[in-house]
Amino acid sequence: MVRPGVFGLLGLVGVISCSTAVTIGKQGNSGYQKNSAIKRSGVNVTQLYNDTCAKCHGVNGEGGGGGTKSLLVADKFNQKWDKPFFEATRNGVPDMGMEAYGATLSDQEIWALVVHIRELQKKGLWQEFAPKPKGDLYASKHHTYRYETYADASEGLKTPWSMAWLPDGTMLVNSRPGFMSVVKGGKAVGQVTGLPASTEIGQGGLMEVKVHPDYAKNGWIYLSIADPSPRSNRSAFTKIVRGKISFSGNNGVWGSEQTLFKVADENYDGAGVHFGGKIVFDGKGHVFFSTGERGRGALAQDLSKPNGKIYRINEDGSVPSDNPFVKTSGAIPQIWSYGHRNPQGLAMNSEGVLFDTEHAPRGGDEMNRIQKGANYGWDKVSYGINYNDSSLSVPWPSGNQDFKMSIYRWLPSIGTSGLAIANGAAFPKWKGDLIAGGLSGANVDRIRVKNDQVVETETLLLNKGRVRDIQMGPDGFIYVALNQPDKIVRLVPAK
Ligand code: HEC
Repeated sequence: MVRPGVFGLLGLVGVISCSTAVTIGKQGNSGYQKNSAIKRSGVNVTQLYNDTCAKCHGVNGEGGGGGTKSLLVADKFNQKWDKPFFEATRNGVPDMGMEAYGATLSDQEIWALVVHIRELQKKGLWQEFAPKPKGDLYASKHHTYRYETYADASEGLKTPWSMAWLPDGTMLVNSRPGFMSVVKGGKAVGQVTGLPASTEIGQGGLMEVKVHPDYAKNGWIYLSIADPSPRSNRSAFTKIVRGKISFSGNNGVWGSEQTLFKVADENYDGAGVHFGGKIVFDGKGHVFFSTGERGRGALAQDLSKPNGKIYRINEDGSVPSDNPFVKTSGAIPQIWSYGHRNPQGLAMNSEGVLFDTEHAPRGGDEMNRIQKGANYGWDKVSYGINYNDSSLSVPWPSGNQDFKMSIYRWLPSIGTSGLAIANGAAFPKWKGDLIAGGLSGANVDRIRVKNDQVVETETLLLNKGRVRDIQMGPDGFIYVALNQPDKIVRLVPAK
């Protein structure tokens, strides 16, 4: 996805002592303008800020005019300040000489100004949050670790999208153009041939590879692919299959394939964006997977359309009878939750809590706790603004909108991709933490969540490449698939 200039390269966010931003469930009537549909205002927010706010707050947020302090304060680069910033702009700070803008600007425009302030803050503050290695050691809050290359660009990986391990430690790596590498000891020693056809249009291609938790008994491997339409190789939708690999030496042949989820051809789309494609097993016989909205935001709200959903199926592809919409007429019965934009991170913790990370437009990538039947709000509410600098939405649902709020948001966006739960094997003090990656942010963040509240965050890795996938290795190390350059790196505890 397109990212705004320089912010796109920067990582994120510091340590949050305690966030108050979580609001799960129905919101009271907030009195905000109703987001009945996202309003595409033409006002350019940079210009609006420069014309209206900069004379006091400074073009870069540095403050100094009209008695203002600098906005470039690390503590305030935090989601718990989203609403206070919004309210200050809307209602003014009368005793300090700032007028109220609520009468002249729409709520969407006011929110866009907050997003602009976030972009200024990140530009001014990012180095404060960047991990600072001493030699090759990174000292973080609970562990000191090294970062090392596991498989370098010479292994022939091309936009590596997903990593998984067989019980004997062999790593399978899907490259988006459509091939699967067999990796041992950091070397690509073989290939798996005979894979189902996929088409690499834009962000889609050969995507996820997941090894069934009982692989040793049943041999099943699950894949998500951008499945080409019979009409045209340039039209695709996310499809889920499983199959078995028969190995001879280091090379394998894919076979015994079963299609577990495939949508009607009318839904196939030529858009190159938003395929979702992440797969998770719950260990109780179910498979969760995600689809993006394929650039058609409104369809994320439509239960009869496959776009922008998280699904739950039985491991053989059949529909669990306790899925939330099995009795809703017209609804796709595999749907578990909806209102998603592009979930490219999906992970379940040891308590069975499912999380996703998903791409927002410019600003406001989300981490959500995924709950049965819930609506996550896209394309009705979003933290983001439009790529052309115009306002889009306010992030909070209004009284009649029963949307779940994210538990964490990246503002500016990082292009979320890859999500894992630290299992504690090599980093015991991170056990249960979420490890989330970003493409444009080129970051790996550790996020601690307690009772749906983010209590701690830090950036573990920054500017090593676009992060596509994060997985816990069998050795407990944190593996990260990167592209630009294409390689796999890992975080290893310092001895
Ligand atoms: C006439 C000067 C002036 C103008 C113009 C002005 N502000 Fe302010 N603003 C202030 C002062 C003074 C404060 C309170 C002191 C502070 O926080 O720096 C403030 C506070 C704020 C705060 C709260 C900051 C905090 O740290 O809690 C936000 C957010 C804000 N302004 C946004 C805006 C935006 C957006 C605009 C343009 C639409 C704007 N202001 C225009 C003077 C101004």
